[in-house]
Amino acid sequence: MKAVFQDYKDSAAYISEKIGGVKPDIAIILGSGLGGYADEIEDPVIIPYRDIPHFPISTVSYQKGELVFGKLAGKNVLAMNGRFHYYEGWEMWQTAYPVGVFKLLGVDTMIITNAAGGMGYNDGRTMRPGDLVCVTDQIKLAPMSPLRGANIEEFGARFFDMQSVFDKDLRALAHEVAAAQGFELLDGVYAYMAGPQYETPAEIRALKLLGANLVGMSTVAENIFAAQLGIRVLCISCVTNMAAGITGAAITEQEVLDVANEVAAKFKKLVSTVIEKL
Ligand code: HPA
Repeated sequence: MKAVFQDYKDSAAYISEKIGGVKPDIAIILGSGLGGYADEIEDPVIIPYRDIPHFPISTVSYQKGELVFGKLAGKNVLAMNGRFHYYEGWEMWQTAYPVGVFKLLGVDTMIITNAAGGMGYNDGRTMRPGDLVCVTDQIKLAPMSPLRGANIEEFGARFFDMQSVFDKDLRALAHEVAAAQGFELLDGVYAYMAGPQYETPAEIRALKLLGANLVGMSTVAENIFAAQLGIRVLCISCVTNMAAGITGAAITEQEVLDVANEVAAKFKKLVSTVIEKL
């Protein structure tokens, strides 16, 4: 059964009590290999998902299942260390559940990250593993939506706009910070595939033709819910591998994690400076 408003309220009340009633300024959702970020948070309050009423529990072995609340670059942040994926067996609404809880805690800005396969651009520009990409839009061909089913009116309209979820000002700030740190933050469109298998070369050719530059198995549900809730989103992908068929090399989970780990320091610096300047 899809959660009801009271479930979100119960989760938020539990978290709020653990963090002394402080309002988090920013929520951060961390992708594969990028979870080490939570270590940077000062005076952390760690809240295991299993203790939070109605919260799903992450099953990806290398992802932890906890919220980390504390100070980062002078701001109160609430980070998800470990997230929920449809391929694990969760329903789409469950993968986005924490975003509703964040809203009730007073969060108005969300930074969401992921590891993604890079496809490059239809004008011939390429991407490389290790590149960081600011997501400008998303494509979800899979039919399920986190908001299918009874609408929770307290959270927003049944039908809502998706054109401004990737906040322009946050994107501009991320580009400015990356340039000051000496690297080019690319822009790209993220296409969701349900996984857990990586894509076929034909799927990647199709997605690229449709205008996607990145492919991954997460993030879009959280972004959809954030749009309904009026939470502004900064979404950054780390290209961990070239998507299927681009180089012909087999894609492995190990490669995805290794590249994410290599880029983690650059990535953390970008995100924490963006947070500082917010
Ligand atoms: N495809 C889907 N998800 C991914 C990939 C990919 O190539 N790389 C990292 N996550």
